[in-house]
Amino acid sequence: MTTCPPVPADAVIDGFRQALAAAEAFAGATAPNPPVGCAVLDAQGAVLACEAHQRAGGLHAEAAALAVGREAGLIDRAHTLIVTLEPCNHQGRTPPCVEAILASPAKAVRIGSRDPNPAVTGEGGARLARAGLDVAFVGDLDHRDAADLSRQADRLVAPFTTWSVHGRPWLTLKQALTADGGMVPPAGAKTFTSQASLVLAHRLRRRADAVVTGSGTILADAPLFTVRRAPDPRQAPRRLAILDRRRRTPASYLDAARSRGFEVSLHDDIPALLADLAASGVLEALIECGPTLLEAFLAADLWDERVTIRQSPRPGEPDTVEILDRLAA
Ligand SMILES: NC(=O)c1ccc[n+]([C@@H]2O[C@H](COP(=O)([O-])OP(=O)(O)OC[C@H]3O[C@@H](n4cnc5c(N)ncnc54)[C@H](OP(=O)(O)O)[C@@H]3O)[C@@H](O)[C@H]2O)c1
Repeated sequence: MTTCPPVPADAVIDGFRQALAAAEAFAGATAPNPPVGCAVLDAQGAVLACEAHQRAGGLHAEAAALAVGREAGLIDRAHTLIVTLEPCNHQGRTPPCVEAILASPAKAVRIGSRDPNPAVTGEGGARLARAGLDVAFVGDLDHRDAADLSRQADRLVAPFTTWSVHGRPWLTLKQALTADGGMVPPAGAKTFTSQASLVLAHRLRRRADAVVTGSGTILADAPLFTVRRAPDPRQAPRRLAILDRRRRTPASYLDAARSRGFEVSLHDDIPALLADLAASGVLEALIECGPTLLEAFLAADLWDERVTIRQSPRPGEPDTVEILDRLAA
């Protein structure tokens, strides 16, 4: 049983922020695994190591953080482990994370989200508690920021949750509107939004395992769809899925997209597209299309987050950005 007093609550909350930031930096790089971060704290609450799961097949966040602590010669001081997602208790491509934790000197574990898989949820936390560790979920901590951090942890794994529970990717629908409410850029231009909005768009792409578009957008703009305005740690190819029943997308565009690193596919209908993406482990898809396909996704009520960027009617003024998030609603 635990003999030391718990780490101060402010230090746990600060450790959570660091672990969430570490995980967030790899959102979009870990599929079909979720992004996860882990911080190792000493008894006074100092962060000894903070690491993230970086790609499927690589070390899980807990094992990575404990390894860094060990390499730095600090592992004997490990007291509390902070993990943004409940540690797994089953053998996957890597050994169960609960075993790595039990093999460390850690006495307490603080967890962000429960494992969304209904077949195993609660098992990791329960196994650690049975072994005598002091286990708690961040949402249950007595701290003014605890509920907010719990929500952030849930949001971070929402694409993984949607994929595991509903069998389809999390769908982010991005739409840019001109000052007069249209979606079509002025003649000769491919975009009309500000630099800040373009950075936002590239951050959304970075998070996604697939970009979904329609043939109309490709014929009008031939977009690159690459991540250029945000750091992108993804190593696996990103999918570019094009709805194109009439097969109007030029072969030269498909070849160029493949040479930019995309795994390209053409599709005939939205349900089959989503099934195909889910089967290939796509947790999140960013839909970047014109008004025709956008209307089809909206009519089918197929979206989890809507990002609407509105150009200001007054030139030089910043765009306004509206984000509707179904998880937050
Ligand atoms: N402002 C923005 O956010 C934004 C973003 C992207 C593009 N755009 C602009 O949008 C314009 C192009 O508009 P768009 O409406 O033609 O492009 P789109 O929505 O990207 O593509 C439309 C095409 O998608 C195909 N499609 C396949 N399945 C569909 C389904 N279930 N429902 C609807 N369509 C389906 C259709 O071709 P098939 O019938 O052959 O399948 C249809 O012609 C361009 O001017 C571009 O600049 C604006």
